[in-house]
Amino acid sequence: MMNKLSSEQLKSRISLKKLFATEPIETEQMVMGWVRSVRNSKKFSFLVLTDGSTFDQLQIVLDESLVNYQDASSLLAGSSLAVRGKIVKSGGKNQGIEMQATQVHIFSATTEEYPLQKKATSLEFLREQAHLRIRTQLFSSIMRVRHELSMATHQFFSNRGFYYLNSPIISGVDAEGAGEMFTVSTIAGLKDKAPKQKDGSLDFSRDYFGKETYLAVTGQLEGECYAMGLSNIYTFGPTFRSENSNTTRHLSEFWMIEPEVAFADLEEIASLASDYIKHLINHALTHCEKELQFLLSREDNAQGIVHLETLKHVATSEFIRVTYTEAMKILEDVEAREKRFEFPLGFGKELQTEHERYLAEVHFKSPVIVTDYPKDFKAFYMKQNDDGLTVRAMDILVPGIGEIIGGSQREDDLEKLKKRMGEMHMQEAPLWWYLDLRKFGSVPHAGFGLGFERAIMYITGMGNIRDVIPFPRTPKNCEF
Ligand code: 4AD
Ligand code: MG
Repeated sequence: MMNKLSSEQLKSRISLKKLFATEPIETEQMVMGWVRSVRNSKKFSFLVLTDGSTFDQLQIVLDESLVNYQDASSLLAGSSLAVRGKIVKSGGKNQGIEMQATQVHIFSATTEEYPLQKKATSLEFLREQAHLRIRTQLFSSIMRVRHELSMATHQFFSNRGFYYLNSPIISGVDAEGAGEMFTVSTIAGLKDKAPKQKDGSLDFSRDYFGKETYLAVTGQLEGECYAMGLSNIYTFGPTFRSENSNTTRHLSEFWMIEPEVAFADLEEIASLASDYIKHLINHALTHCEKELQFLLSREDNAQGIVHLETLKHVATSEFIRVTYTEAMKILEDVEAREKRFEFPLGFGKELQTEHERYLAEVHFKSPVIVTDYPKDFKAFYMKQNDDGLTVRAMDILVPGIGEIIGGSQREDDLEKLKKRMGEMHMQEAPLWWYLDLRKFGSVPHAGFGLGFERAIMYITGMGNIRDVIPFPRTPKNCEF
């Protein structure tokens, strides 16, 4: 038994990741982690330990000759400990290695109260235990994939000459024009004492920033400023939307990656977007193979649509491109035959998730890039087509989810942009700086936004966006 561990002993630990990568057979090692399970036989116990550093978990053989055998062999799931012992070839059918313990130090033994006993636990229950769920194999796998996908993002853009831009999180404009913003205010909390206008509404001119400000719904407009000087930038940051959507694909706080490219049109960023998605898939396949095998073979894998084989196929094939008008025609033909949609169709109608999923899952059976949407339901900044009806927008739709990317070529003509803002009843004054970009050295440019959590859902097959972000924020839910 080891008493309180010295700093040297703590530092002597080897992570399970390193242990399984190097397999130091016949050496003494010190591992530290949490108990997954303990199984007792007559003279031995088998303890399964995890430290989250890798998919594999270590089987440790506890022999009854251990000084604290009684305590160690009666540990419950979730207990934390340090174990010193010899690494040997495993006798079990999975080959590999195991440890024969010589010393066990118990940091903390859990009681029956520990909420994650090994009985299968539902995803709903685990959401209520978001502070502990990372100790399950499921969540540690998802979070390792999430980590690898962020590394892959920086690698992809950096290797292509894009500079990483930290766009602001507090913003003074409704950049998407959807009015789905959280207000940032120091007066709102003052209640009765808050400065008010004559009509009783808050007087934001006396607020912290001297005007109404919000949490950013996008970093795009600032991204455009920087692309007009650095040529290629990308943002990767938290994004906030107060839309009251209680779906499996919406979060109030999510992460978005937004590249912006100067001297480029929609064709170019459509290719960039598909290369990026393929890079994400390939990176996950090479760095998280075990995690993906485990995640994609789960029963509740997004309705069984995403499989390892499908992902491998997607990573090597061209994404299909159709215009909104062509997509609408496909959907109308299906509806005429099968009557399968709830929402109405026809030029000018928005594509709903049921339509998007039909296109990706049933019709094309692959990710699909839909371009040239009617201007009426797209943001003011999109490049207007000569037909006067559509804009150079694109959405990328994937099986199991629907939209994971939204992007466009930007309107670079000052007069056209101002005219569009007028039609949409937008004020020019707060966006004077954005209009300046069109006055001084305007160039064709384009960009897109990838919803990071939606990409993780697609690649892991998880069916609910709340399970691919550490602490989800959704309407009526901000625990932890
Ligand atoms: O289509 P969106 O609204 O596009 C933009 O924000 C543009 N400024 C992007 C650009 O051109 N630079 O959002 C982009 C993506 C969506 O396709 C979706 O994947 C994700 O962001 N997204 C959400 N993800 C989770 N929860 C939400 N509430 C989301 N809203 C959008
Ligand atoms: Mg969109």
